[in-house]
Amino acid sequence: MADDLIITVQAPAAAEELVLGAMSMAGLDEVEIRTVEETGTVLIQAYWPADLGPPPTIDLARVPGARRHPDRIVARDTWAIGWPSHQIGPVRLAPCLAEAPPPSAAPMTLHLMAGQGFGLGEHPSTRLALEALIARPRPVGPRVLDVGCGTGVLALAAMRLGATQAVAMDHDPAARAAATTNAALNDIDLTVVDDWPTTLADLVFANINPPTLRSLSAALRSALAPRGHLILSGLPTADADDVARAFAPLIPVRFDRAEGWVALTLAHGE
Ligand SMILES: C[S@@+](CC[C@H](N)C(=O)[O-])C[C@H]1O[C@@H](n2cnc3c(N)ncnc32)[C@H](O)[C@@H]1O
Repeated sequence: MADDLIITVQAPAAAEELVLGAMSMAGLDEVEIRTVEETGTVLIQAYWPADLGPPPTIDLARVPGARRHPDRIVARDTWAIGWPSHQIGPVRLAPCLAEAPPPSAAPMTLHLMAGQGFGLGEHPSTRLALEALIARPRPVGPRVLDVGCGTGVLALAAMRLGATQAVAMDHDPAARAAATTNAALNDIDLTVVDDWPTTLADLVFANINPPTLRSLSAALRSALAPRGHLILSGLPTADADDVARAFAPLIPVRFDRAEGWVALTLAHGE
C-alpha cells in the first residue's frame, strides 16, 4: 500500500493568509487550520496522496516566521489523517479531507470536512454539548433542531444516536454549506435552513455566545416540544447562571462543565 503524506506549515497567526496563498500556489487548496494559542501560531496541514508523485515545494520565503515541518507519512487507510480524532461517549469525530469517508470507519464515527465551519470537536463547547446529548435519557428525539449548527456536528450526532428528523439552522451560508456537506459525507438526512422552522423539536441545541443566546431565548423556548430538552452551550462559567435565568420558566436539569465552559440542559417544569 502506498504511503501518503501530511504536509504541515507552522506560522505566526497573522501570516495565515500568506501561508494559505503559498500553499495554494503549490497546489494545496484543501487544508486544515489549527490555532496554537500558547505560541500565537497556526498549524496548516494538507494531505498529499502518494499517487501524485513527490510532494510540492512551498515557497515560504516571503512569509516571515513560517516553517514547514518534516512531512509525515501516513498509511493510505488511516482515516484520522491530520489531527487526533475526538472520542466523546459513543461518538467519534474524525476530521476528513476527502469527499468520501474511508470504508474502515466505525459505525458511530462522524466525518466532518476539515476547515469548513465551527464544530470539528476541538472546542470544549462542542464537546460539552455532545456530552449533554449522550447523557440524556434515550431514545433521543425523534425531532432535533440545531440552532447555530456550524458543521452540523450536534444534529448529526443526535441522528446517529437515534433521532429521526433533524433540522440544522445557521445564519452563515458557509456554515450551512458545511453542514450540508457533512450530512452527505455521513449519509445522514439533515434539513439545513437559514430561518426558524415552524415545527417543534424534542431536542434543541444552541451552542452560541451568551448575548446571542439571551436574545434568542424566546425563540428557542418556543421551538421546544413540551417534554423536550434544550441544550445550551458556549457559556463561559461566569455567564451560565445568568443565561439560565433568561430561559425561565424552563428549568436547568443538568450542567456539564470543562475548561471554564458550561453546557446547560433545560426542560419544562412538571
Ligand atoms: C460556536 S458555533 C457552534 C457550531 C456547532 N453547533 C458546535 O456546537 O460546534 C456558533 C454558530 O452559530 C451561528 N450563529 C451565531 N448567531 C446566530 C444566529 N443569531 N442565528 C443563527 N445562527 C447563528 C454561527 O454562524 C456559528 O456557526
